[in-house]
Amino acid sequence: MRNILVTGGAGYIGSVLVPLLLNRGYNVRVLDNLMYGGRALLPCFAHKEFEFMRGDVRKIEDLRTAIEGMDAIYHLAAIVGFPACKKFPKLAEEVNQESTILLEGLRHDRPMFYASTGSNYGAIVGDVCTEETPLNPLTIYGTTKTEAEKYLLNRGNVVAYRYATAFGVAPRLRLDLLINDFAYQAVKNRNLIIYEKTFKRTFIHVRDIAKSLVYALENFNTMRDEVYNVGSNDMNFSKEDVALMIKRRIEYYLHFAEIGKDEDQRNYEVTYEKINKAGFQTTISIDEGIDELLKVMDVIDVVNEYSNV
Ligand SMILES: NC(=O)c1ccc[n+]([C@@H]2O[C@H](COP(=O)([O-])OP(=O)(O)OC[C@H]3O[C@@H](n4cnc5c(N)ncnc54)[C@H](O)[C@@H]3O)[C@@H](O)[C@H]2O)c1
Repeated sequence: MRNILVTGGAGYIGSVLVPLLLNRGYNVRVLDNLMYGGRALLPCFAHKEFEFMRGDVRKIEDLRTAIEGMDAIYHLAAIVGFPACKKFPKLAEEVNQESTILLEGLRHDRPMFYASTGSNYGAIVGDVCTEETPLNPLTIYGTTKTEAEKYLLNRGNVVAYRYATAFGVAPRLRLDLLINDFAYQAVKNRNLIIYEKTFKRTFIHVRDIAKSLVYALENFNTMRDEVYNVGSNDMNFSKEDVALMIKRRIEYYLHFAEIGKDEDQRNYEVTYEKINKAGFQTTISIDEGIDELLKVMDVIDVVNEYSNV
């Protein structure tokens, strides 16, 4: 498998995955409608093996052109995160769910790698989620990703990864992700108010996500037709834990509000034994990720540019 299509390759994860694939000698074609711009991919254009196609995964003719000559597909294109999906519910359904079905109908025997999400678990308290835990998505984002994942797993010839919440610096930097957002607010506003501080989440660095996707490509035969939680057993933390990790590094006003509710009600812990048994381990800690985020905040001026909403 040398020729690789990445849908949504200009996004937060894609902007780290695509250079990694190019550096490993793959020929990479990105299909993306550039809803957040394309600057994150600029360095890739210097590679002869890189090809960019501006298009829409909702259009069957764009998908057909994009998969021509490709050996495998990373399907990352999506409306990502609960605020963006809440704001554009119809678009979320079309992009996250219906386009996945369209793409599935065209790919024939080509392996697919699907970026699913731990959001599918919703709120599961008192138990640690394994891949067998019944899914309980709480949002349109979770529902559309769950449906697409189910569809692909039924069809087979796929590896589906349920990711922890990503963090860390990438060429397209998202600031709506919990750790990235806390670091941004601590540096820029010197102020962070946290609701439901005990809510637990699980995290993975964006470079580890990219590495796990390459790992699946290179170990497809042993990993195929399964879903894996992807993250680290050492990185299940509460919101309070994360805020305090940042506070150990920089001074800012931190308030844990007793009254009030976070719109994002996700609260779950996850085990990553299955992916570890398959041979993949994450390498980057939250502490390292926070250090790099704090360093980068000085060069970021405009928050909206990096928003997913
Ligand atoms: N970042 C995370 O924490 C996380 C966690 C779990 C799963 N995921 C999944 O990983 C994938 C990538 O997420 P991300 O964080 O890079 O998000 P992102 O929003 O940065 O990237 C999504 C990309 O998809 C593109 N896109 C959107 N609609 C499109 C359309 N109609 N046609 C073509 N391209 C389109 C966007 O332009 C963007 O480049 C998504 O499928 C997401 O559900 C992300």
